[in-house]
Amino acid sequence: MAEVQKLKIGFIGLGNMGGAIAEGLVRSGISADKIYACAGHFDKLTAKCKELGTLTELHMDAHASAPTAHACHDAAEVADHTDVIFIAVKPDKIPELIRPAAKHFSGKLVISVAWGYTLERFQKERLLPESTELLCTIPNTPVSICKGIFIVEKVNTLTEQSSKLVEELLGRISLLIPVDTRLMDIGGIVGGCAPAFVDVFMEAMADAAVMYGVPRATAYQMVARMMEGTAALQLASGKHPAAMKDEVCSPGGSTIRGIASLEEHGFRGTVIDAVKAIEGK
Ligand SMILES: NC(=O)c1ccc[n+]([C@@H]2O[C@H](COP(=O)([O-])OP(=O)(O)OC[C@H]3O[C@@H](n4cnc5c(N)ncnc54)[C@H](OP(=O)(O)O)[C@@H]3O)[C@@H](O)[C@H]2O)c1
Repeated sequence: MAEVQKLKIGFIGLGNMGGAIAEGLVRSGISADKIYACAGHFDKLTAKCKELGTLTELHMDAHASAPTAHACHDAAEVADHTDVIFIAVKPDKIPELIRPAAKHFSGKLVISVAWGYTLERFQKERLLPESTELLCTIPNTPVSICKGIFIVEKVNTLTEQSSKLVEELLGRISLLIPVDTRLMDIGGIVGGCAPAFVDVFMEAMADAAVMYGVPRATAYQMVARMMEGTAALQLASGKHPAAMKDEVCSPGGSTIRGIASLEEHGFRGTVIDAVKAIEGK
């Protein structure tokens, strides 16, 4: 069995992000009974742990009974049972949840996914013991279907062996993009916020298709697949996006007229302004 499949994996918080990571890991073949989590509401947590078990069934033979993820009462209980722990609560909850449980994180490998929390900030706030190996990241929710991104802070306190383990673990559900600390926020915006921009684009393009008679569901299917394929082609070929655009625009053709219209309406400037609006500079 691969090393990562033996790992016990903890989640402090199993909401949108923690839940997406857990779901992706289970879809990637990690059994739900390797997962331990705590959250604010125990009933909701228990239901989510059962759901993760149901996903695990996909990888099991028909007669085996489904394992379930383990619902824990607090961060200390999660840390005591696990080797790798994701901190996936809202950033303002981190001090109150992590500080009282700090000693339970001794010698553990911790992966933070919280916005605004860098290694320097954890160290300044003295939230974890020095023996904790810590990596700060910003993922996005497509990790739930193993198509995510993890923006990863280059500076961290992981040993070489742990770095390899983390690469293997997160690599199952995402593309890892290591960046300097100063680029964590912008990386998080592009990876974590821009999916909402893409959703708006997808909706607008589908509206246009509906306007010309395509049924709504078919329109979303067409647009989503077109975007998935275009992005996959860029990743596979490494081609400059402008070169890809040129290949679609024949001289005097109709596509270039659509591009000209986008330019007239300041499409690129609008996208850049949207990023500036989040970054606040
Ligand atoms: N959502 C994204 O796309 C995204 C992207 C990148 C990074 N992040 C980061 O991910 C982190 C979580 O964000 P989110 O969007 O997943 O938020 P969320 O959906 O609100 O989830 C927060 C989780 O924290 C749990 N929680 C609340 N109080 C707790 C307590 N006292 N003890 C243990 N757990 C507690 C919640 O449990 P209950 O629901 O039961 O209260 C929930 O499971 C944040 O730091 C955020 O910056 C999120």
